[in-house]
Amino acid sequence: MSPVAELPTPALLVDLDRLERNVARMAAAFRGAGVGLRPHAKTSKCLEVVRRQLGAGALGMTCSTPAEVAWLQAAGVPDLLWAHAPVGPPKVAFVVDAVRKGGLTVALDSLEAAAPLSAAASAAGVEVPFVLEVNTGHARLGVEPGHVPATAASLAALPGLRLRGLLTHEGHLAAMPDRPSLEAAGRTAGALLARLADGLRAAGHAIDVVSVGSTPGATSAPFAPGVTEGRPGTYVYYDANQIRLGSCTIEDCALTVLARVVSVQRAGRPIIDAGIKAMSSDTIAAAGSVGLVGTPDVTFADANEEHGFLLDPGGRLAVGDLVRIVPNHACGTTNMWSHLYAVRGDTVEARWEISARY
Ligand SMILES: Cc1ncc(COP(=O)(O)O)c(C=O)c1O
Repeated sequence: MSPVAELPTPALLVDLDRLERNVARMAAAFRGAGVGLRPHAKTSKCLEVVRRQLGAGALGMTCSTPAEVAWLQAAGVPDLLWAHAPVGPPKVAFVVDAVRKGGLTVALDSLEAAAPLSAAASAAGVEVPFVLEVNTGHARLGVEPGHVPATAASLAALPGLRLRGLLTHEGHLAAMPDRPSLEAAGRTAGALLARLADGLRAAGHAIDVVSVGSTPGATSAPFAPGVTEGRPGTYVYYDANQIRLGSCTIEDCALTVLARVVSVQRAGRPIIDAGIKAMSSDTIAAAGSVGLVGTPDVTFADANEEHGFLLDPGGRLAVGDLVRIVPNHACGTTNMWSHLYAVRGDTVEARWEISARY
């Protein structure tokens, strides 16, 4: 136990009270609706956080990279969904090995992606459980909804693969102009996926997973009747982007970068010792800033690698002062660090490792 003010800067902090509240609230909302919660592990990449999410009732975790899958398998997390594309010989070999260890489902969206996995799984004598990814508006991975019946049938017919259901990432919600249209788009995406799943059941497929996933959509898409699980990730920390999208307020933001003012040579424009390498270069689309400064009237204007440029019109900050910045994107920020400090109020309670950074 030591004071936050004595930490070397920059440092990544997680506020334990806020973390615990975020974990409990999301778990309660999903439990209340009878929907499974499968948080995305990429936001924290931290076993201490994952354990809290599982302890609050999460049915398993979502991963985006082989490193995350391997890390959580080694930690004994029994139910993992790799929500990316297992394409290319190294990833195919990895999946076959990880499925043999148990508890992994992957996502696929084409015959081209599925065929090599089918061949490798058959040769190894394993059956790879998979969900078919569907584009409900984000237009990244995923078959178009109209192609779901045919693609599902052709992938399900491949040896070594077992169709479990459907998955979407409703990332397009972030482009909605206001919260009501965002919520409506979330409900539409969830309902569409559930309807497509019903169609597959009617065609004779045994579907047990209908999986939506995002933090902006976490109050809408998972609660469409027929959706079985949601995969929000960012909610565990929230961030400045989620404030902008109406998912949270600044009081919910658990992840901050502690930085120190190192120069005020130009009046009203303090320089701090945290820039892109402390927060990643993810920006708020329109504002172009690199986070919110948790100090009234002070804003983040720009960043170089290890320098942050603040605007402090009142001239309140002096050399040596500490500031705490809520990053735009919690997941990108986490990935810049090998550890973070768990703090309660002004006291550091623990130092936690950040794992599987790539
Ligand atoms: C496939 C997938 N599922 C779930 C999530 C979690 O979404 P969010 O970061 O909005 O919580 C992401 C995030 O990018 C994702 O790519």
